[in-house]
Amino acid sequence: MSRSFIDLADAGSAGLTLMLDEAIARKQARKGLPKGRIDADAPLAGHTLAMIFEKNSTRTRVSFDMAMRQLGGTTIVMDSGSMQLGRGETIADTARVLSRYVDAIMIRTDDHQKALDLARYADVPVINGLTDQSHPCQIMADMLTVIEHRGALTGSRWAWFGDGNNVLHSIVEAGSLLGFPVGIACPEGYDPDPAVIAAARARGGDVRLSRDAAEIVAGADVIVTDTWISMGQAHAEEKLKAMMPYQVDEALMARAAADAVFLHCLPAHRGEEVVDAVIDGPQSLIWDEAENRLHAQKAVLLWCLGKIG
Ligand code: CP
Ligand code: NVA
Repeated sequence: MSRSFIDLADAGSAGLTLMLDEAIARKQARKGLPKGRIDADAPLAGHTLAMIFEKNSTRTRVSFDMAMRQLGGTTIVMDSGSMQLGRGETIADTARVLSRYVDAIMIRTDDHQKALDLARYADVPVINGLTDQSHPCQIMADMLTVIEHRGALTGSRWAWFGDGNNVLHSIVEAGSLLGFPVGIACPEGYDPDPAVIAAARARGGDVRLSRDAAEIVAGADVIVTDTWISMGQAHAEEKLKAMMPYQVDEALMARAAADAVFLHCLPAHRGEEVVDAVIDGPQSLIWDEAENRLHAQKAVLLWCLGKIG
């Protein structure tokens, strides 16, 4: 069986739970091993993942590459500018051709429709490595980090501060699929996509949107933020000004639950969306979160290629 992973809902709550369990087990099983050592069962031996980057990346590029190596497979990493895709070859034709060479494709792109089209025309699984609309692999890692730290997702109240962006969309989707409430504090004009909120609520998700950061942070367990200016967006002083009341600083953290944790997908803009004292402070889990990209994506790859579930 081969399945694409364009958004978290593609896997449903059962698929997501299965992947998170797999990630925990696999991470535990290879503790202490050199990072380049192949997992004992080498479940993706003989498999190749092609990665297409239309935007910059550090974590996604390296963690997917290492994920494939640890699973016993290999990768081909391409920037779209050096592909014919960058000179106008269609996504559909690219999908058909790559499907004849490789076993799975990961794409990081701007327009979400491109990832959907790639999945539609490919005969192999396609994984969303970030679009302007969502970042599902990031939120798999975030959920894994919260489970490791708290023992479970259930009972955790998540709170987002700042821009209503792609990362937030995937958190909202995750909350509605796995049953944790998400509070959102962002300034007027920078709300998340109402369709994402509506879909989450239609699934029974508990999503609260407010202009008041203090209201959203009260008692929250997982505090999350991200850059105020995402890749592809113009740097705008006006936006930075509007975001300032939503900066995650020590005063905001003090209003959260006493044992609250801080997450950030990185790269961070210290002094903008978060201050050093928080991102480098005792409640911050950002390095585990970044590491967990690797472990979570190994499970995503195994699910897509029909090795689990
Ligand atoms: N968090 C994340 O996706 O990082 P990169 O942009 O470095 O891949
Ligand atoms: N929202 C950010 C996430 C980067 C990993 C962006 O799209 O640039």
